Amino acid sequence: MKRIEIIYAVVTLGALGAAAALPLMSHRGGTSAVPGWGEFVNPGRISSKHEFLADRCEACHTPHQRPTVDKCVACHASGPATEGLLAKQSTRFHADIGTCSECHVEHFGRERRPIDMVHEALVDHAEKSASSGSLTEADTRSILAALGVASSRPVPHARITPRELALDCNACHANQDPHRGLMGSGCASCHATSAADGGWAIREFRHPSSLSTDCAHCHQAPPSHYMEHFSMVSMKVARIESADVSQCYLCHKTNSWNDIKGLGWYKHH
Ligand code: HEC
Ligand code: HEC
Ligand code: HEC
Ligand code: HEC
Ligand code: HEC
Ligand code: HEC
Ligand code: HEC
Repeated sequence: MKRIEIIYAVVTLGALGAAAALPLMSHRGGTSAVPGWGEFVNPGRISSKHEFLADRCEACHTPHQRPTVDKCVACHASGPATEGLLAKQSTRFHADIGTCSECHVEHFGRERRPIDMVHEALVDHAEKSASSGSLTEADTRSILAALGVASSRPVPHARITPRELALDCNACHANQDPHRGLMGSGCASCHATSAADGGWAIREFRHPSSLSTDCAHCHQAPPSHYMEHFSMVSMKVARIESADVSQCYLCHKTNSWNDIKGLGWYKHH
């Protein structure tokens, strides 16, 4: 063997030995048993809210495993954040989702909130509950209902996966519907699910001309328009003597509901 090869062999053996000893020692004594090893295999800085765990890898990891639900739940089973999640329509599924790291990423640095919504994880969970056989049919149905899995499927379009079509979008997103129900509850017939596809925005959509008189086909007026307020305030503000509520185009433009024709920006309240 040449001198250089001997050096390489020694270095390699040393590295292998250290690599074998690290997990052995750290599995027995926890991260702190081998100072610095966490830094050595750490794939990236932990998010700011979890930074206090930066040198306690085992708070989230069992060695050689992805973080498991029990580790996360140990800290997140209760508290204001959890109450907030369960109180919000779209995140109520946290009550029994049974998986965390599908949607909760880590090691992307301090600034990044460790959240990456993956709708397919909802489908996985619904399918697992349905096929596990350990639940009664009534239990299964109530889980599917809580997860918002619809029996009727909306018309598919290019940006939604066939599996996602099993989800009842409206069960989680009705509160965010800007269409006031006028476009129906099958959000997936028009919308995709991921931020990469623009979130709720639909690039292809071109709003009808402001000369259109069909506004009321797609828009519903606020409740005040169906009360005395309409004749007492709205019509006076717009300086229109006679109008039906459905004739939005007489008073409104298409850029903002607060930009009143012939008047400009107006905000009641
Ligand atoms: C707050 C919880 C948390 C802490 C603390 C934590 N991790 Fe992680 N770690 C995660 C999550 C979540 C993932 C992503 C799992 C996945 O993709 O399935 C992950 C992934 C990893 C991966 C796999 C990366 C990959 O690309 O597959 C490694 C390695 C890892 N962590 C090491 C560490 C080490 C070392 C420490 C301590 C310095 C640590 N982690 C501390 C939550 C944590
Ligand atoms: C040792 C306790 C502990 C463990 C283990 C833990 N967390 Fe946390 N987590 C916290 C604390 C404390 C906060 C900050 C809460 C707050 O500010 O209200 C937090 C915040 C979060 C946040 C909000 C982050 C943000 O930027 O808003 C998410 C999401 C989260 N944890 C998910 C997880 C997941 C998923 C796991 C398992 C991989 C996990 N946590 C493991 C204690 C823990
Ligand atoms: C299907 C995806 C998904 C799964 C699975 C999931 N979460 Fe979440 N989680 C989210 C989303 C999306 C948010 C952000 C909601 C928001 O911004 O209001 C969130 C927010 C959180 C927060 C932050 C609450 C706050 O307001 O600060 C915590 C804590 C959390 N999840 C814990 C968990 C734990 C623990 C698990 C596993 C039992 C889990 N999540 C499973 C999608 C998921
Ligand atoms: C018939 C098709 C259709 C249906 C069904 C539909 N939407 Fe929309 N939605 C649109 C269009 C078109 C836009 C305008 C998109 C744009 O300007 O980028 C829009 C915009 C939105 C926006 C605002 C997007 C932004 O970036 O400002 C949200 C949020 C939204 N829809 C939620 C829903 C929800 C929730 C449902 C189901 C309850 C639903 N939509 C059903 C067509 C539809
Ligand atoms: C079980 C609840 C649930 C169901 C069912 C569901 N979602 Fe979501 N969705 C969420 C959560 C949680 C978020 C994260 C943001 C938030 O808290 O609202 C989200 C986010 C989104 C976003 C915003 C993505 C982004 O990052 O900008 C879109 C678009 C969306 N969902 C569309 C849909 C569509 C379309 C369906 C039906 C195929 C659907 N969702 C079904 C819970 C759900
Ligand atoms: C083919 C259906 C359709 C017709 C017809 C239509 N709109 Fe819209 N309009 C939408 C959709 C979809 C959006 C974006 C999401 C939402 O706010 O519902 C939108 C958004 C708007 C907004 C923006 C709201 C905001 O705050 O961002 C205004 C204002 C508006 N329309 C006014 C009008 C007026 C005035 C007319 C008649 C001249 C009209 N629209 C005709 C579908 C329509
Ligand atoms: C006669 C004129 C007139 C007609 C017709 C009319 N509006 Fe309005 N609208 C107004 C005025 C003025 C305001 C602001 C003052 C107020 O609240 O009355 C307003 C306010 C609104 C707002 C509330 C904006 C905010 O600050 O929250 C919405 C949304 C709206 N109109 C939608 C519609 C829709 C949709 C139609 C048709 C179905 C319609 N309007 C028909 C005059 C009109």
